[in-house]
Amino acid sequence: MDTSAPPRFAKDFLSILDLSPDDLERLMHASAQMKADRRLGRQAPSASVLAGLHVALLFEKPSLRTRSTFEIAIRELGGDTLHLPAALAEGTREPLQDIARNLERWVRALVIRTFAQEKAATLAAAGRDLHVINALTDEEHPCQALADAFTMRERWGDCRGRTIAFVGDGNNVATSLTQVACMLGVSVHVASPAGYELPDGVVDKAARVARDGATVRLFSDPQRAVEGVDAIYTDVWASMGEESEAADRRRIFAPFKVNAGLMAAADPNALFMHCLPAHRGEEVTSEVIDSPASVVFDQAENRLHTQKALLAMLVG
Ligand code: CP
Ligand code: NVA
Repeated sequence: MDTSAPPRFAKDFLSILDLSPDDLERLMHASAQMKADRRLGRQAPSASVLAGLHVALLFEKPSLRTRSTFEIAIRELGGDTLHLPAALAEGTREPLQDIARNLERWVRALVIRTFAQEKAATLAAAGRDLHVINALTDEEHPCQALADAFTMRERWGDCRGRTIAFVGDGNNVATSLTQVACMLGVSVHVASPAGYELPDGVVDKAARVARDGATVRLFSDPQRAVEGVDAIYTDVWASMGEESEAADRRRIFAPFKVNAGLMAAADPNALFMHCLPAHRGEEVTSEVIDSPASVVFDQAENRLHTQKALLAMLVG
């Protein structure tokens, strides 16, 4: 595939649901090409995709992986970054719509990490010439899900018929993972304490994009959710913005810790996955995250390759 002129898709990437299954397939292929070509450095076919273009980064929450990989991705594609102050996203100095209408005159895309998904949607609607990329909201984390999908493809090849269990909070990461897995033909089991389940609307929409018989099932018993599955995925029990609930959540989520006993109930070749950052000893033991089953640093590396493919296909 020629990554210097990839076909375009939707204007914005706010959700995995913005992609058609064919878009996702093309993105997976372009990501593999980006990964293979990286050793070529400035000689890579994609090295000038963003030449002469700026991409703005606006992060209202902390980040290691997402910020670093977007910054490197933009530079490796020949573009330049513009770092915007986090306070702008509050929309108090001026309305979000006006921010988008300024930015579209200067930059080609905006990568935003914020609280309400609605904010990213407002910016995307107002900036008709601005590609808006969701770098995590309270509701969704689609860039993470692209790397997760790519990591599964690397390990399994054709993913159809596989099952992944997400153990923990039915949060932003669980939502985007469920959506992308369904699109790949991977069934999803989500095990959560009462009151922390994946929202019904997420389950319904994921079922609508499911391919090849993939299903979504919710569980209250983590042991039952992981029986025979091909991968176990978990995430922090208290997400960014929920710090005041952390002590309560530690108590409520304690039975949902991923430890060697839980891994033993999955398929013997099951992968362990985590978006990171991990709270070792809380949602996962060090024994599991450091075990041969763990692909967490592959996921982190693949953030770079999949976001390069995303930028090239959105903007290039
Ligand atoms: N997984 C992830 O998004 O990590 P950061 O919060 O460090 O960006
Ligand atoms: N659910 C976590 C993911 C961090 C990458 C959070 O939102 O904080």
